Amino acid sequence: MRTLLGPRSGERILELGPGTGYYTGTIAQAVEPNGTVYAVDVQQAMAEHLQARTRQQGHRNVEPIRGDGQRLPHPDDSFDGAHLVLVLGEIPDQERAFNELERVLKPGGRLVVGESLPDPHFVTLKMLRRRAERQGLQFENHIGTRVGYFARFTVPPSAE
Ligand SMILES: C[S@@+](CC[C@H](N)C(=O)[O-])C[C@H]1O[C@@H](n2cnc3c(N)ncnc32)[C@H](O)[C@@H]1O
Repeated sequence: MRTLLGPRSGERILELGPGTGYYTGTIAQAVEPNGTVYAVDVQQAMAEHLQARTRQQGHRNVEPIRGDGQRLPHPDDSFDGAHLVLVLGEIPDQERAFNELERVLKPGGRLVVGESLPDPHFVTLKMLRRRAERQGLQFENHIGTRVGYFARFTVPPSAE
């Protein structure tokens, strides 16, 4: 995930659905010292758990936020990158979530989506591409197999 996302020092990264924070620490470390991971989860309990876990790991650059990926509380062009792993299938309106991700990412911003079986909400790469591309995200590449993969998209550079 980190390889595909390519987080760099100083960047602002959005993590959607961090859960207990399996991926959060490694990205927080990559963007140190001045970058920040904004971790949005619908469950307040996850945000609280994440706060405690990342503090314990020594990361001071993670902001857990209770929120919904279908209505992100951030202005346009806020982030250099975003990622969501085993989250997409839990979101009722996935196209709306991609629309939001496209909105909050800067032109040229990267998005990595991870999915794997046996997650009961597994989304195939084909479905993922269809939903993301409809919202203007550009598929770049993926690693893995049909039953477990990470896929990378980008927001096309602004036409202006
Ligand atoms: C299966 S867990 C995955 C956690 C983590 N990404 C991982 O791979 O270990 C899914 C997480 O997505 C969150 N989630 C589900 N729907 C969401 C939504 N609409 N907006 C934000 N987070 C959501 C859940 O609360 C849960 O923490």
